[in-house]
Amino acid sequence: MKKAKIAGIGFNVPDNVVSNHDLEEMMDTTDEWIRTRSGIEERRWVEPGTANSDLAIPACIKAIKNANISVDDIDAIVVGTVSSDYNFPGMAPIIQQKLGISKHVPAYDISAACSAFIYLLEIGDQYIKSGKYKNILLVGSDVMSTIIERTPEGRATGVLFGDGAGAVILQESNDDSCILSTHLFADGSGVEHLGAKAPGSFFNPLRIDEQIVAERHHLPTQNGREVFKNAVKRMPEAINFALEKNNLSIDDIKLVVAHQANKRILEACAQRMNLPSEKMFVNIQKYGNTTAATIPIAMCEALEQGKFSKGDIIMLTAFGAGYTWASAAIRW
Ligand code: UT7
Repeated sequence: MKKAKIAGIGFNVPDNVVSNHDLEEMMDTTDEWIRTRSGIEERRWVEPGTANSDLAIPACIKAIKNANISVDDIDAIVVGTVSSDYNFPGMAPIIQQKLGISKHVPAYDISAACSAFIYLLEIGDQYIKSGKYKNILLVGSDVMSTIIERTPEGRATGVLFGDGAGAVILQESNDDSCILSTHLFADGSGVEHLGAKAPGSFFNPLRIDEQIVAERHHLPTQNGREVFKNAVKRMPEAINFALEKNNLSIDDIKLVVAHQANKRILEACAQRMNLPSEKMFVNIQKYGNTTAATIPIAMCEALEQGKFSKGDIIMLTAFGAGYTWASAAIRW
């Protein structure tokens, strides 16, 4: 059977650094609250006029170069995001156009919030295994700064999010490097605990109007404690599931790259898995929660820092709105 590997990877974040102290000015919060509750010190926010696809394109170009292919080699584009350029169409056709891909390759988006990147990985893995496509561009990109409210009323979610983009190229592997397995999960009973409802057909006959905005349904809300409790349970469960499927133990894992939503969540997960803290990669202090982009950004930085290299086994895991959660085992 064919196996898929990550042949290229790249990320991009905006230049504009927003510190916790900057947020103190707009959100009735404190640096101390943000650091102690989440571990975040700063995040990047795009400047007005920058759309999600603008942020994503440099990440895509880096991944394409890193894979040593050209844009014309790409056979399919799949994007994970909750902050697309438009309500519709999706962002993938926009990326196709901005990259100058003239072939009519499939290009579509999926919506799996913070778990999106591992959902993408499973989709791409299946395409490669079946032999349907040879080079697949997967993009996790979000401009959460365009969704949050920069006021005291928005502080509960506003301080947590940042903007970022990550991309990978999947190809067939001819050696031991491969995606060993992916595991996706969901539990719709979590729908009410995290999300932004408008614009949406729930509000039929109008997806959005003044009243919907006045009632703040277009802004993200989360039941932080409930989400926290579920995240620290589900991510270790998903990793243990992947370990068992691959007949591995936690000692075989070089690094865990988990969705960066809260440093305390990462610490609690490491503790539950008996994972030494240095094997849990953390970069939330620099970028905050970039939703679909946290995992490719973290993987890219960890690789640059020499935290894993060819032949090492790494584990990815994520938890987010839906609820959705996931894990992936990769031999680099
Ligand atoms: O990526 C998707 C998945 N998301 C997550 O995994 C996030 C999971 N949840 C969390 O990370 C944490 O629950 C939060 C960081 C969101 C919040 O931490 P917490 O320790 O659960 O705080 P809390 O929501 O229970 O709020 C505690 C207090 C409240 O005040 P009272 O009621 O105790 O007086 C809030 O009003 O902190 C207050 N508060 C703030 N204070 C200063 C909430 N947001 C802020 C803020 N600055 N930004």
